Amino acid sequence: MAAEPRSAFPDRPQFSGFMRPCRVEGEASNLEVLGQIPKEIDGVFYRVMPDPQLPPFIEDDPWFNGDGNISAFRIHEGRVSFQQRYVRTEKFVREREAQRALLGKYRNKFTDAVEFKIRTTANTNIVHFNGQLLALKEDAPPYALDPLTLETKGLYDFDGQLPSLTFTAHPKFDPKTGEMVCFGYEARGDGTPDVCYYSITPDGKFAETVWLVAPVVAMIHDFAVTENWVVFPIIPQVCDLERMKQGGEHWQWSPETPMYLGVLPRRGAKSTDVKWFRYTNSFPGHTANAYEDQNGNLRIDLGLSDKNAFFWWPDAQGNAPEPSSIRSQLVRFTINPLSANLALNEPQVLQADNSEFYRIDDRFAMAPYRHTFFDMMDPTRGTEFPRIAPNLGGGYPLYNCLAHFDNLTGETEVYFPGTTHMVQEPVFIPRSGGSSVEGDGYVLVLVNNYANMSSELHLVDTKDFTRAQAKILLPVRLRHGLHGSWVEGKDLQQSAAA
Ligand SMILES: [Fe+2]
Repeated sequence: MAAEPRSAFPDRPQFSGFMRPCRVEGEASNLEVLGQIPKEIDGVFYRVMPDPQLPPFIEDDPWFNGDGNISAFRIHEGRVSFQQRYVRTEKFVREREAQRALLGKYRNKFTDAVEFKIRTTANTNIVHFNGQLLALKEDAPPYALDPLTLETKGLYDFDGQLPSLTFTAHPKFDPKTGEMVCFGYEARGDGTPDVCYYSITPDGKFAETVWLVAPVVAMIHDFAVTENWVVFPIIPQVCDLERMKQGGEHWQWSPETPMYLGVLPRRGAKSTDVKWFRYTNSFPGHTANAYEDQNGNLRIDLGLSDKNAFFWWPDAQGNAPEPSSIRSQLVRFTINPLSANLALNEPQVLQADNSEFYRIDDRFAMAPYRHTFFDMMDPTRGTEFPRIAPNLGGGYPLYNCLAHFDNLTGETEVYFPGTTHMVQEPVFIPRSGGSSVEGDGYVLVLVNNYANMSSELHLVDTKDFTRAQAKILLPVRLRHGLHGSWVEGKDLQQSAAA
């Protein structure tokens, strides 16, 4: 460890321009609103961004190794208030005390300055379940937060029920049963091939715990769930404990490793029931949705790139794609889960544009569905790239518009937020008043404005998708975040009363 800690962030793209760490906690009420927020919208948009509180001692630390900083936007009676607070992880608390970075490389404990019990930054997703707000990162259990104050309650092991050392950042919620369906990988520790699948009842009881062994120790970031099956997509970024011990990276791209889709019965399964279907080496991104068709085949809709989307972790020879050459498309794999042939057919391209961060009307999760909302990059839309280039910073894929894809008609509608803007992950808000029509409601998206280096929320009515119904101006710049959730006000009141 260096004698003197770094007093400024490294001069790297991931710490520059819009990607400069924000490091702000606080609140602002009555944010400026241009246009009108319908009064029927009542709830909170929670999102999390990796936001290092202190300069790392790893020069080229990837942007998503930063501390989890939670933003909450409360919308009520047409007004918006904003609150932001870091998750008090063990890392955050000890580094604040030491006034220097203590955590080393991304998911490599052998590079730390001190020994941590829990290394997580809790920076990947924020979900609401059984009265708790859970800040998630896939290398550890969740941290529980108070949904109203964002105060950290502590590491959360579901009252001692959590069987694995890790917990996915992408749990799925069954709208029919209220279950939270989850898994952990490297579930017995760094470099272990063990995957632990589990399902949690709405009142927080663990059920369906199944331990599996993956064919390779590699990243399983998101997954897919249908009424009767769960699917684990394996990204060919592989872990090697020996490399880690020598101070290397947790992950290395493996061009010879297939993309696996592990398929397991959702209920009553044994370890031996898992089937690892294989496809050409490629990078599976986020899941949009999955369901079973009339023939019992699984339809799994996800983003797929033929290149290593995590270019900052190259292959053993140091090869990585040029970032601007990486494209992800929304594709559909169709799998007969009973098939003995484990070679997957070519997926169907549902939407051919460069896209990611797919969201749906969550009331239709795990079931046949029609509408997908996502981030898209379309360079022909008029973005002033030369003007904003000096402000972009780096380390994050850029998307300049919000899209709505209709599976039934095959059509795509686009909301373009402006010539100096990029979008972060959206959320879907169902229209209140009893509308149960799929996709009827609003899409709310955090937008980076590179002209004034501040953030905005844009609200789009799905009935009039190409323009913003309201723009909410923030007094601060929020660097790129990862994922978030919309929580209805009535659900929060219930959890506060409980
Ligand atoms: Fe993710």
